[in-house]
Amino acid sequence: MTTTSQDLQLLKKQRVAAAALSHLRDGMILGVGTGSTVNAFIDQLGPWVGRLAGAVSSSDASTRRLQALGIPIVDLNDVDGLGLYIDGADEANERLELIKGGGAALTREKIVAACAERFICIVDESKLVKHLGAFPLPVEVIPMARRLVARELTRLGGRPVHRAGVVTDNGNHLLDVHDLVIEDALSLESRINQITGVVTVGLFAARPADLLLIGGDAAVRELVRPR
Ligand code: A5P
Repeated sequence: MTTTSQDLQLLKKQRVAAAALSHLRDGMILGVGTGSTVNAFIDQLGPWVGRLAGAVSSSDASTRRLQALGIPIVDLNDVDGLGLYIDGADEANERLELIKGGGAALTREKIVAACAERFICIVDESKLVKHLGAFPLPVEVIPMARRLVARELTRLGGRPVHRAGVVTDNGNHLLDVHDLVIEDALSLESRINQITGVVTVGLFAARPADLLLIGGDAAVRELVRPR
């Protein structure tokens, strides 16, 4: 049997997901993100069933996976904050700013990240980039504002493409913005947030990750957010 590049990528995701397990503590309520790397993490949570008090989930898909394992789902409105949030990313730079939303869960992910004292982002090494933006930037929009927001994003120099057929867990639409050169992620996040009709932009710069775990061929590298 031959090992494909997809198999190798999955191994890296499983490796980095395993490394995140060492940050869990008994009795904690854990914030859980969305995506294939997070799925690899959830799939390794078996020994933590009964030890975690519960999980706040960032998507319906992660909720179903956590429930299937027997991890209680906690409503974010029933807690005052979270100690730890674990999630993947589509791109990460060395400042630990992220592009997220390839899996359409960016809004809830941003909400859970905002509540967490510590955000650990788990990625395979293909996600680490010098400059954010090669991955089209997801923007969740109120459906009736889609063309309005698209025009504004074009003015910012991007090429927004409607992610046809996708409706988010919040009932909204997504624009994927191509061709953006993201020099200053923090100010672009704030500019896009100001556009009427935008629910969330998938730039995580105001609330970046605190620790980035990067799964490679043989090991997991750590990058800590520069202060
Ligand atoms: C979900 O909306 C995203 O933000 C994911 O965290 C991101 O797309 C990473 O997903 P993968 O782990 O599947 O690459």
